[in-house]
Amino acid sequence: MKFPGSIHSKLPKVGTTIFTVMSGLARETGAVNLSQGFPDFSIPERLVELTHSYMRKGLNQYSPMQGAPILRERLAEKVEELYSAKYDPETEINITAGATQAIYTAISAFVKEGDEVIIFEPAYDCYDPAIEIHGGKTMYVQMNLSGELIDWEKVKKLINQRTRMIIINTPHNPSGRVMNAADMLKLQKLTDGTDIIILSDEVYEHIIFDGMEHQSVARFPKLAERSIVVSSFGKTYHNTGWKIGHVLAPKELMKEFRKVHQFNVFSVNTPAQYALADFLLEKEHYLELGAFYEEKRNTFLKLLEGSNFKVQPSEGTYFQLLDYSKISDEKDTDYAVRLTKEVGVASIPVSVFYHEKNEDRFLRFCFAKEDETLEKAAEKLMKL
Ligand SMILES: Cc1ncc(COP(=O)(O)O)c(C=O)c1O
Repeated sequence: MKFPGSIHSKLPKVGTTIFTVMSGLARETGAVNLSQGFPDFSIPERLVELTHSYMRKGLNQYSPMQGAPILRERLAEKVEELYSAKYDPETEINITAGATQAIYTAISAFVKEGDEVIIFEPAYDCYDPAIEIHGGKTMYVQMNLSGELIDWEKVKKLINQRTRMIIINTPHNPSGRVMNAADMLKLQKLTDGTDIIILSDEVYEHIIFDGMEHQSVARFPKLAERSIVVSSFGKTYHNTGWKIGHVLAPKELMKEFRKVHQFNVFSVNTPAQYALADFLLEKEHYLELGAFYEEKRNTFLKLLEGSNFKVQPSEGTYFQLLDYSKISDEKDTDYAVRLTKEVGVASIPVSVFYHEKNEDRFLRFCFAKEDETLEKAAEKLMKL
């Protein structure tokens, strides 16, 4: 079939996401798929049982637009315990269809034609198109992946009357780096006295290593009062396909967020919300998640010891950047395709997380995989 008119694309430069492309290529070629970020192991059995039980109990109709009350209450308790922050479950917490929807809705609710939004590159790929489609202008700050992560002087220079939002992401995809308390305090100082909203993408909040603590904006009261905090159950409970997340925000911001949320999603899968509310009580799951993935990271790196890849330290998330410059000087997008087709390991080329050409030679590998999967991949990578 063919549309008979001309298409006036709102996103002319946007194609299919790299995650879809590389996962598709991995499927086609039978390569070990360490590209897209999802676990290849099962979700906790109890979570499956709980979901079934709520379906059988008849909780199969629309949940409230804000999310199941019990889930919001338990999240409020969790956030207070972890970050000493008080959010009212009625007015300051909302359940979303994953973090992607939360981010899109937040941008949609606040970014207007001509507004500027500061993001840090390499940047997760859903921020920029959402800004563009609402007529906003993305202002880019390059991060230093191998040293002090953010040069806040650069951020300061970009801030002006048009700056509506700053989007941060810690622990950071794709680099695996994390922001520290000093970063947060600098951000707080820079935004103090402005109308700037912080959109804080914290989907990997529980996946942090080597004794470090996640520095949620929620821990910093002066930052929390201007922030929308985004989380994803998918990353925490190994169920990325459920697409359920949540946001925390002061009530004035939440009011605006909900105006949009009610018309682009309205509400989220009901039985899954009740199951998650119960499973949240099993705190050891998220409290031990960092150690679980730290072991995965260590296993992957041990398997690669002596390889020709240079390791970029991963402090959090379930991603590992590997520098392949000793092996090839091809562009990372070409090399990632060749690695998938000829070597049999799919990864993500990091240059796609930049708006302009990037000459780094990094590939991102996801280690949220069974040890056997990591072993299979490493065996192939060790031959290079
Ligand atoms: C940094 C970051 N933000 C947001 C998301 C989207 O999360 P969700 O699957 O809950 O929409 C991801 C998923 O990979 C991510 O890595």
